Amino acid sequence: MDSLPPLQTAFLFIIPLLLLYGVVSQHRRKLPYPPGPRGLPMIGNMLMMDQFTHRGLTNLARKYGGLFHMKLGFSHVVSVSCPEIAKQVLQVQDHIFSNRPATIAASYLSYDRADMAFADYGPFWRQMRKLGVTKLVSRKQTESWASVRVEVDSMVKAVAANTGKAVNIGELIFTLTMNITYRAAFGSKNDGQEFSKLLGAFNLADFVPGVRWIDPQGINKRLVKARQSLDMFIDKVIDDHMQSKIEVNGCDETTTDLVDDLLAFYKEAANATGNEDLHKPIQLTKDNIKAMIMNVMFGVTETVASSIEWALTELMKNPDELVRAQQELASVVGLNRPVKEIDLEKLTFLKCTLKETLRLHPPIPVVHHVTYGDTEVGGYNIPAKTRVMINIWALGRDPNSWEDPERFRPSRILDDGAPDFKGNNFEFIPFGSGRRSCPGMNLGFYALEMTVAHLLHCFNWELPDGMNPSELDMSDVFGLTAPRSSRLVLIPSSRLLCPIV
Ligand code: HEM
Repeated sequence: MDSLPPLQTAFLFIIPLLLLYGVVSQHRRKLPYPPGPRGLPMIGNMLMMDQFTHRGLTNLARKYGGLFHMKLGFSHVVSVSCPEIAKQVLQVQDHIFSNRPATIAASYLSYDRADMAFADYGPFWRQMRKLGVTKLVSRKQTESWASVRVEVDSMVKAVAANTGKAVNIGELIFTLTMNITYRAAFGSKNDGQEFSKLLGAFNLADFVPGVRWIDPQGINKRLVKARQSLDMFIDKVIDDHMQSKIEVNGCDETTTDLVDDLLAFYKEAANATGNEDLHKPIQLTKDNIKAMIMNVMFGVTETVASSIEWALTELMKNPDELVRAQQELASVVGLNRPVKEIDLEKLTFLKCTLKETLRLHPPIPVVHHVTYGDTEVGGYNIPAKTRVMINIWALGRDPNSWEDPERFRPSRILDDGAPDFKGNNFEFIPFGSGRRSCPGMNLGFYALEMTVAHLLHCFNWELPDGMNPSELDMSDVFGLTAPRSSRLVLIPSSRLLCPIV
């Protein structure tokens, strides 16, 4: 039989495909949006923006379901808080849901998304992520892991010098994680907590373009101040790096850190593309480096610190679990020496305690993604550019997935078939899942384990002023992260039979 000419063959395939596309998009157009609270004309659900916290969204989900829809001005917003839908969004249709919202705060604080955490999914993000992983969080990057050990040791010494006194342990923990970050990547200090509040805030101006200049919530002024402080800090870090390069005459140093590598990466990019702007690298290079530093500041400082503080708080509130964790340390390590890295893998109950903490207090309670194109989830229409809020906090407390979900019970993690946090069990995703999941998971959990193991093994802990465990404040503040609303204060006493220092 004669074969058809190429043009006809092409039409034979293309026409059915076009018809199929037409039917699918027609079908999708007919699909409803997910259910949700009714909005007002033009402004949609803007008057509800104060409810867009992990708790507020959980309450709304009780009424409207695990996938609900709202409008903010002309923008579509959906909230996800059931495991089946989270799986669709983060795994099955990951490619459509992997962009990040370009909010005013994220764009401004990340130097126009010149980073890994706020860049849209694509080649630039891939490059930045590769660099961050290889130079900072990979197990081969021994400086990062060593920095955890060095800083934990110095924190333990600081606590040991204050036994018998009320110690603001929450403050010490934040200092510890800040020191780990800067030791790992750059070697000095800056305050990141204001950044978290700004990044987590729902800003009217993100949804109503004209409002940006009026700034009804006073966010612009705070953004400028926060970025100026980062600018000053990081200018010095970059200048120091450039200076040390000049001093060694730019030749191959064997140890480079994240800043050196970012500088080198941009020089290479400039040479490869011949792009004029890249040949004037200072502005562009500094912006990218600053943005990456901002990512690391949050990645490590806020998330790890709030997990450590919550772990200690839950253990103080549940003395039986504290006793069990300390007994395990005594039997695995013995009271004649401090904990070593090699002990960690045998400390099963400690691991469960930390996982249970991450279930109840995921440091990033709600993660934000944006759809790249139109799609359909659970029989509902999700248009392109929809803002998707995945409520990790609600997933970890879902009564359909967890028995007695509000209770701190580490041993549940030992149950047969208990979920793990690696990103395949969607009722427990403190590090997210899929392409945008946390690249610092192993380093973050290691810092958490090392710190809590040392604090529980070296010291016994008491609440100050005869406080009862049930009186402990368990409230949190909502930003990009959700730390305790007040810092934890405890009285340490020595526990080891050998000197700590
Ligand atoms: C207890 C510790 C930590 C927790 C619970 C945590 C959690 C998370 C979560 C939930 C996300 C968002 C995932 C998503 O959008 O789907 C994330 C992203 C990220 N984390 Fe972590 N994190 C931790 C530690 C770290 C550490 C130590 C670093 C190291 C620098 C880090 C760096 C990042 C970065 C850069 C992103 C953005 C990734 C991207 O968008 O491609 N995190 N993390």
